[in-house]
Amino acid sequence: MPGDKSIAHRALLLGAMAEGTTVVTGFPPSEDCLATLRCLQALGADIVFPGPACSEPLQIRGQGPSGLREPEDVLYAANSGTALRLLSGLVAGLGFYAVLSGDSSLRRRPMRRIIEPLTLMGATVLGRGGQFAPLAVQGAHLRGIDYTLPVASAQVKSAILLAGLLAEGETVVREPESTRDHTERMLLAMGARLTREPGLVRLCGGAPLRALHISVPGDISSAAFFLVAAIITRGSEVVIRGVGVNPTRSGVLDVLREMGADVWLENQREVAGEPVADIGARSSHLHGVRIGGSLIPRLIDELPILAVAATQAEGQTVVAGAAELRVKETDRITAIASELTHLGARVQEGQDGFVIEGPTALRGGRVRSYGDHRMAMSAAVAGLVASGEVTIEGEECVAVSYPGFFSDLRRLQEGT
Ligand code: S3P
Repeated sequence: MPGDKSIAHRALLLGAMAEGTTVVTGFPPSEDCLATLRCLQALGADIVFPGPACSEPLQIRGQGPSGLREPEDVLYAANSGTALRLLSGLVAGLGFYAVLSGDSSLRRRPMRRIIEPLTLMGATVLGRGGQFAPLAVQGAHLRGIDYTLPVASAQVKSAILLAGLLAEGETVVREPESTRDHTERMLLAMGARLTREPGLVRLCGGAPLRALHISVPGDISSAAFFLVAAIITRGSEVVIRGVGVNPTRSGVLDVLREMGADVWLENQREVAGEPVADIGARSSHLHGVRIGGSLIPRLIDELPILAVAATQAEGQTVVAGAAELRVKETDRITAIASELTHLGARVQEGQDGFVIEGPTALRGGRVRSYGDHRMAMSAAVAGLVASGEVTIEGEECVAVSYPGFFSDLRRLQEGT
């Protein structure tokens, strides 16, 4: 699997703030992570990436926050919400001016969720229409805040923590539901003055960060496509080595098991502060389940592929409490409902989720990706079990997280 996108973004951002050389192995060549890399270079960070084909690791020669400078041009985050939101938090504490923007999808995504806390900390953050990118951030000498997240979002939590690194006093982030905790784990490993209690994180600003050796595990969000592919395709089995199984990310495994899937973990270990395992899955008879509540942030990115699994499961699968899907790379609730229906699935769209009645024999057809990498990869997996050919419009968007997706899928299909 390509390296975990969330961890790779954080390795770059925190490595650029640290003192000394951070060495990163397993850095994924995904468009999202390359966007963060280029933005940090535009901020003056000294990053060497020999490229994915080369076995040499990526290196960030950090000089602490003072090694970064005001960018000369707009910071372009492309399709990546993580890049734009986390970089805004970083810039807010650095005291200079930066404009951050992205592609048409990113410019439609809600930014008030970071504008509000960063403003409370003392930065000036202006957005188009008060809420969209391009964002203009005037950094300042920040003060710590005690902030309760209004939406369960690791990006917002991380933006506040990045700003909190340079803020005066203590920054407290309270989260009603736990979200991915890669930022907290990496900050702790780098020596930040951070403490964790159930439902909250405390960070004292001002402590220098130590450079680290970071080994990025395989991305469970990418692995999920092949797990579901093996589970719904007759006579299949797959083992995916070295995948991150952080409990804040592994909700997809819990749900697949609850659906009756034969999924197992081998060789469980800890690598650079993150739990890692080899994950196996084989063809299984599935049944419908209810997915909601605190499970949602633990599998938010996997709901499109779980929807494909649900079309092959006996009975109803109900997803509720997932309104955040409407503000991802596209409105994934509408996209799932319209594209899977087009392939013959029985899907009912709800305000904050969907209901899928299975099993249905999917048919071929032309599917729109909406420029959303996870929609394109989900459609490809649906194509494995469809009776006719599935054509995906705009399939090149898979490069956002997984440039080699189609060739890996073909290899698996051929069993090579
Ligand atoms: C991410 C957090 C999640 C997730 C996204 C990556 C991160 O977004 O959907 O793909 O790396 O922090 P939200 O923070 O908007 O929930």
